[in-house]
Amino acid sequence: MAAKLMQAVQYSSYGEGASGLKHVEVPVPTPKTNEVLLKLEATSINPLDWKIQKGLLRPILLPRKFPYIPCTEVAGEVVEVGPQVKDFKAGDKVIAKLTQQYGGGLAEFAVASENLTAARPSEVSAAEAAGLPIAGLTARDALIDIGGIKLDGTGEPKNVLVTAASGGVGLYAVQLAKLGNNHVTATCGARNLDFVKGLGADEVLDYKTQEGASLKSPSGKKYDAVIHCTAGIPWSTFEPNLSEKGVVVDLTPVLSSMWTFALNKVTFSKKRLVPFIVTVKREGLEHLTQLVKDGKLKTIIDSKFPLSKAEDAWAKSIDGHATGKIIVEP
Ligand SMILES: NC(=O)c1ccc[n+]([C@@H]2O[C@H](COP(=O)([O-])OP(=O)(O)OC[C@H]3O[C@@H](n4cnc5c(N)ncnc54)[C@H](OP(=O)(O)O)[C@@H]3O)[C@@H](O)[C@H]2O)c1
Repeated sequence: MAAKLMQAVQYSSYGEGASGLKHVEVPVPTPKTNEVLLKLEATSINPLDWKIQKGLLRPILLPRKFPYIPCTEVAGEVVEVGPQVKDFKAGDKVIAKLTQQYGGGLAEFAVASENLTAARPSEVSAAEAAGLPIAGLTARDALIDIGGIKLDGTGEPKNVLVTAASGGVGLYAVQLAKLGNNHVTATCGARNLDFVKGLGADEVLDYKTQEGASLKSPSGKKYDAVIHCTAGIPWSTFEPNLSEKGVVVDLTPVLSSMWTFALNKVTFSKKRLVPFIVTVKREGLEHLTQLVKDGKLKTIIDSKFPLSKAEDAWAKSIDGHATGKIIVEP
């Protein structure tokens, strides 16, 4: 019997940017034993998606093979389940993180592992939910696991700095840090100062001014945790702004971050920079969808594109000036 076909967007080599994306018809994937087949309703683009296309993760074999359907942060409806799937059935609305090696998000259907899938309450739209599996979870886990920040208000209030607070990760980091009654300083461009204050930040710095570039808190706070969502800021800029045991969580680690990390270790420095890559777990996805359902956390959507215009969404993400999440709706 002929396989059922679907619309998808894929690329077949490194380095071509938006023009390398091609619209194709490919077979709908079949879920394996522990997988669910999703009819996708929304997919979010992350900078990592086009960094993989650039070949920046080639040394760790990403993508696993060409052609590759990119994007892994999705929301949709379960249409079929593998024989050992226990927690989901056809008709369930969910969010999921697809595997990075095989991608699959820029398509009408995709398969997701059961343990990287979480139920999506009816109050949470697909577009709002699609930003949670990577951007939301990165902000959450960076704050909790490395920053030592409690999000439920039971911890000692801390001083938190979020860089690039207008971006996909930063917007969640500001809101989550505020949920825990922490003091938040944030950086963003001039056009987004009011937007970031609206997310709850106590102080906002324009990163293109001298004060912004210095990262100094206007009220003289020293940061206990920095959720660092941009690149190119040296340790020497962070260090004088940190409290005695302040930690910088570096979400875009480069060679110099590794060097700083190692140097902090060998010198027994109490101030630290920690490179961080998120590991997606269902528990975290459930926590975030619950917060959205309860009206405690919002996804801010920069723009939405149909799958037929996925290359425009891709170009917008590469441009690096989105305010919030970029969503593709298959
Ligand atoms: N480690 C992990 O597990 C993980 C997970 C997710 C993302 N990441 C990484 O985290 C980084 C942020 O991701 P994202 O999705 O938030 O990116 P994004 O949405 O593309 O960020 C865009 C925003 O960043 C702002 N921005 C750019 N440079 C800035 C600077 N120097 N200071 C302040 N704001 C600045 C831009 O504002 P203007 O338009 O005003 O310039 C824009 O609003 C990326 O490098 C991504 O690869 C890592």
